[in-house]
This record gives sequence, C-alpha cells and structure tokens, in this order.
Amino acid sequence: MSIIKLHDKYFKQYISEDKIQAVVKKMAQDIGREYQNETPIFIGILNGCFMYMADFIREYPGNCEVSFVKLASYTGTSSTGAVKQLVGVNQDLEGRIVVILEDIIDTGNTLEEIYKIFSDKKVKQLKIATLFFKPDVFKKELPIDHIGMSIPDKFIVGYGLDYDNLGRNFAAIYQLTTKPKMKNIVLFGPPGVGKGTQAAILKAKYNLVHISTGDIFRDHIKRQTELGKLAQSFMDYGNFVPDNVTINMLESEIEKNPDAHGFIFEGELLSGMVALEVPEETLVTRILERGKTSGRADDQDEAKIRHRFHEYHTKTEMLKDFYSEQHKYFGINGVGLVNDITARLSQVIDNL
Ligand code: IMP
Ligand code: MG
Repeated sequence: MSIIKLHDKYFKQYISEDKIQAVVKKMAQDIGREYQNETPIFIGILNGCFMYMADFIREYPGNCEVSFVKLASYTGTSSTGAVKQLVGVNQDLEGRIVVILEDIIDTGNTLEEIYKIFSDKKVKQLKIATLFFKPDVFKKELPIDHIGMSIPDKFIVGYGLDYDNLGRNFAAIYQLTTKPKMKNIVLFGPPGVGKGTQAAILKAKYNLVHISTGDIFRDHIKRQTELGKLAQSFMDYGNFVPDNVTINMLESEIEKNPDAHGFIFEGELLSGMVALEVPEETLVTRILERGKTSGRADDQDEAKIRHRFHEYHTKTEMLKDFYSEQHKYFGINGVGLVNDITARLSQVIDNL
C-alpha cells in the first residue's frame, strides 16, 4: 500500500486518480446537460479547487466562463469555524447563472459564507457543485446541488486538498492514517530465484531500505572503519565475524535511515522470513540461461550451480525451521510473471 508523509502525519491512498477523473467527468456532463443553451459562470473556491476546476472545465461540453474566489477556514487538520475572504467577487453577476465549484464541503461554514457573499449579487441562479462531501459533519440547512462523492469524516489530501499547504500536487486522494508499523523483512531464496528483482520492487513500494550484509562488510572494510578493521582481523585468520560485530554494523546502517518504514535484508532481524520458492531444476535451467548472456562464470558451470544450492540449503534450512516455529516463515511460489510474484509477496507483507 502506498503511504506518504506530509509534515508529521502519514496518509494512505484512498481514491485513485482514475476514480476521481471518472467522477469529475460525470459531474461536468450532468451539469452541461442542464445548461445546454446558456453560458453559466463557474466560480472556483480557492485554493483547494484548482485541480477540480481545471479537469471539470476540460470536460464541460458547452460555453462557460470561469472565475475564482479565495476563502480560507482550515488550519492543520481541523476547521477553525471562521471563514476569511481573501479574494472576493470582482465582476458583475447580475442575471447570470453562477455555479460554485468547491473541492470539499465539511462543516458547511464555508458554504454559509458563500451563500452570504452571493446573496446581494442579483444572480439568476446560484448552484453548488462540490467534488467531496462529508455528510457526518455537515451541520447546515443549506442546499448542495451536485455532489461528486460522499466520504466519511476523515481528513484527506491530494487533488488540490492540503494539510498545512502540502499534498495538493497528488493526482490521487490520500486519507489520514496512523504511522505505519516498521516492517523488517528478510527476503530469502536460492540463487537465481529473483530476489534482487523483487527486493528492488518491494523497496520502492514499501519505502524500505535495502540492506545487504555482504555489501556493508565490504564497505566498512574498504573505508577502514573501526568495525571494518575488527571484521577484517577475524576474516584474516579465516574465522567467522562474531555476530555482535555484524549487528553493530547493521545498527549503524539502520540509524542512518530514520525515515524508513522498514528494512529489507538480503542475508539475515525480523517481522518475517519471506522465501521465494522455485523447483531446483527450473532454477538450474534459468541460471544456465542467464549465464549465456550475463557472462558470470559461476552461472555457466552446472556443478558449481548445484554446489551453491547445497550451500544455500545447509545455511538456510536452520533459519527456515527457526522462523517456522514462530509462524514467521512464508514460502512464496516464485514461478511466474514478475508482477504476479510481487503481488504474492505484497499479500504477505501487508499482513505482517
Ligand atoms: P467547511 O467550511 O468546514 O465546510 O470546510 C471547507 C473547507 O475546509 C474546504 O474548502 C477545504 O479547504 C477544507 N477542508 C475540509 N475538509 C478537508 C479535508 O479533509 N482535507 C483538506 N481540506 C479540508
Ligand atoms: Mg476549499
């Protein structure tokens, strides 16, 4: 699920761009049918209405005029009650059909102000067309002629709507949500199974930081950090690097990324162990095929490939047992199209 952060708050996608476009198009066509032989003047309520206005006007089938009024009532995520008129009506509207385009009607305070502003303008008709409407909070007895979508009383951003001035630029609508749970995932699977491909996709989708234990070792050793020198001293004698040295390296990596929603480890810490599973014979064929074009020597020799599988199984079976006992092992069918495999992985990750 795609989550965005604006200032201190998190928002999750709620209404897709396609859905909004369809709703706006229908409103423009419905209203167009009403005024077939007239030239209405559409007045947008700034700032929030600018995207809605632009898309609405493009879909409007007849002649029309466009103007704006600028009002403000919100600070942060709640209505202040007081509506300020920042830019008022500056043209003669006598005898005209006026259609107000509002992005969203919440308590109705702004709407009340709109009715006040236009009460002495001698218009022929005053109609209200709001894209979004929150029926649970609306407290006024004022007519609303067209409603694109009724939505529950939850703060939204996107498509012109803002949270303290941010978020207006998104084409979809996002709804306020709680801070996402950190998701730390270990993506496992034998050589050739597609870990690299899926790790890159999941990383972007869930805003994870990709950590490869091997890369971190090499980086610390190259930069000759204290931890790197320590790790090297063990490796020089052919000894395993003790876990605490590895963990210190990983911690420093995690501290470097305070805004991450989680980490994806290639190697070994953890919400769950997600393993891509593909029959060994299929993989051997796949790797040999890859070897023809990649030029990687270790992808061209079947005996060496089989040895890598043996290594993988001896090293990971224990981990698999360990995570299985905690019900945190998830085997995913790794045969099929990249998109389908991402969907299978996402289903597990969304439920972690
Ligand atoms: P009302 O005066 O309470 O009806 O609020 C109307 C105005 O408040 C809208 O024109 C928006 O500018 C703003 N507003 C209301 N609800 C939301 C929301 O969920 N997100 C962003 N702005 C909102
Ligand atoms: Mg507004």
